[in-house]
Amino acid sequence: MVCLGNICRSPLAEGILRSKLPKTHFFIDSAGTSGFHNGSPPDPRSIEVAQKNGINIDNQKSRPFRADDFESFDLIFVMDSSNHRNVLKYAKSEKERQKVNLILDYPGSKTKEVPDPYYGGDKGFESVFKLIDAGCDYHSQRLIKTI
Ligand code: 4NP
Repeated sequence: MVCLGNICRSPLAEGILRSKLPKTHFFIDSAGTSGFHNGSPPDPRSIEVAQKNGINIDNQKSRPFRADDFESFDLIFVMDSSNHRNVLKYAKSEKERQKVNLILDYPGSKTKEVPDPYYGGDKGFESVFKLIDAGCDYHSQRLIKTI
């Protein structure tokens, strides 16, 4: 799961997807295209909205996305088209490029972009949670079928 800072959106996406998939078959992580917040815990507003929905993300730590994530992971979900462009800069082959998906790119989604909630209020985090949760529902149902 990848966003810009790895403190607001992708920590939520990591926690939400993990809650929908069996630990025995899936390893889920998150990263930021920037290293601005390297080592920091998630934004308190993300921690709060996750907690309200029964998901604990307290122990996560921000880290930058790395080229070798393309080797470590089968799939890479990005939150918006800017993340998409930035992650693709690290791809070394068509196979790697094809691993990258916008998390909201699924049939029936009203938008393809998870907006950056960093400069907004708490309401932005509620709507971001709902968008990411819907994307994770779709992708987790597909992924479970691959086991
Ligand atoms: P995120 O949100 O990409 O969802 O983690 C942001 C967090 C921090 C910044 C931008 C976006 N920042 O500019 O510091």
